[in-house]
Formats: sequence, structure tokens, C-alpha cells
Amino acid sequence: MSLSDAGRRARLFSASLLLTLSAAVVHAHGDVTPHPVDTHALTQLGSEWLDADPYRGNEKAIEIGAEGYKHNCAACHGLNAVSGGMAPDLLRLTSDCAGMSADSKASCLNDSDEYFRDVVLNGKKNSEGRVTMPGYETVFTQEAVWAIKAYLDKRTEEVN
Ligand code: HEC
Repeated sequence: MSLSDAGRRARLFSASLLLTLSAAVVHAHGDVTPHPVDTHALTQLGSEWLDADPYRGNEKAIEIGAEGYKHNCAACHGLNAVSGGMAPDLLRLTSDCAGMSADSKASCLNDSDEYFRDVVLNGKKNSEGRVTMPGYETVFTQEAVWAIKAYLDKRTEEVN
């Protein structure tokens, strides 16, 4: 084996090691394949999609939403919703609402719900049409969407 062959092999080896490692990291954060969220413990909402989160402040929903977030969103948006820069910081989505009086805060958060719901159901594409975030329309119930939003609103409240 020539010296340059050895060098090439070493580079190939470290490249595959890196790939294995990054796959392991993605798994540690919950992979990016959509996973259904078990929401049977929550008040069921029916088949008509709501425009505002009925679970805001609901402890059980926040707990379920935290699990749903961990398994579906954390790989890209960061563990505990603290963004590592790979995808937008979801704690900034409603940070403007945080300092408001109770009534204004409620309507500020309600205004963010519809946008949140639509992004989560449809996902996102960049300007070239490449999928940057998967859509969850076929895996999430509306209970799952609102539980995750309730969790994120709680986290936003904690950091602001
Ligand atoms: C494969 C990575 C990936 C996963 C998994 C993912 N997202 Fe995203 N998300 C992104 C990226 C990238 C963007 C920005 C896309 C763009 O603007 O083109 C984004 C954007 C968003 C936005 C809009 C943010 C804004 O500031 O306008 C919301 C809300 C959102 N994601 C919520 C979620 C939730 C909730 C989950 C889990 C159910 C999730 N995402 C899972 C990558 C991901």
C-alpha cells in the first residue's frame, strides 16, 4: 500500500466515523421521523380544527407536549426548545407576548396558534422547494399539536 493510499483510507475512515457519530447524536435527541403522540389522557377536541390552543396552562398537556416535542422536534429545534442554531428558536415565536398584561397576552398567544398549527401540519420548504421541515399532518392529532404548543408557551414563559 502506498503512502497516499494509507492517507486516503485514514480520511475515509474518519469520514465514516463522523457520519456514525452524527447519526448517534441525532438518535440521542430523538430522530426526525414523525412519531405519533399519545394524547388519550387529554380532553378530546373533535375533528374540527381549532384556531387557538385550548390546553394553554394545562399541566397534563404540557407534560405530554414535552414528550411529543422531544421525540419529534428536538433533533432540529434543540433539546428543551433551546435552539442550537440548526432550526429557528421556537422560544422566540411568542417572546413578545411574555411581558403583556393577562388579556393582551392571551390574545397575543392566540394569534400565534394558527401560524404554529399550519407550520407543524404542512412543514416548510425553502425557496428551491427542498423540504426543510417535515409536515406532521398524517401523524399528529390536533390534541398533539396543541399539547406541543402548550409546552412551548410554558417554556417561553420560563425564559422571558
Ligand atoms: C428536520 C428538522 C426539523 C424538524 C424535525 C422540525 N422542524 Fe420546525 N423548522 C425546521 C426548519 C429548518 C425551519 C425553518 C424553515 C424555513 O423557514 O424555511 C422550521 C420552522 C419551524 C417553525 C416556524 C418558526 C418561525 O420562526 O417562523 C415552527 C413553528 C416549527 N418549525 C415548529 C416545529 C415543531 C413543533 C416541530 C416538531 C413537531 C418541528 N418544527 C420539527 C426544522 C425542523
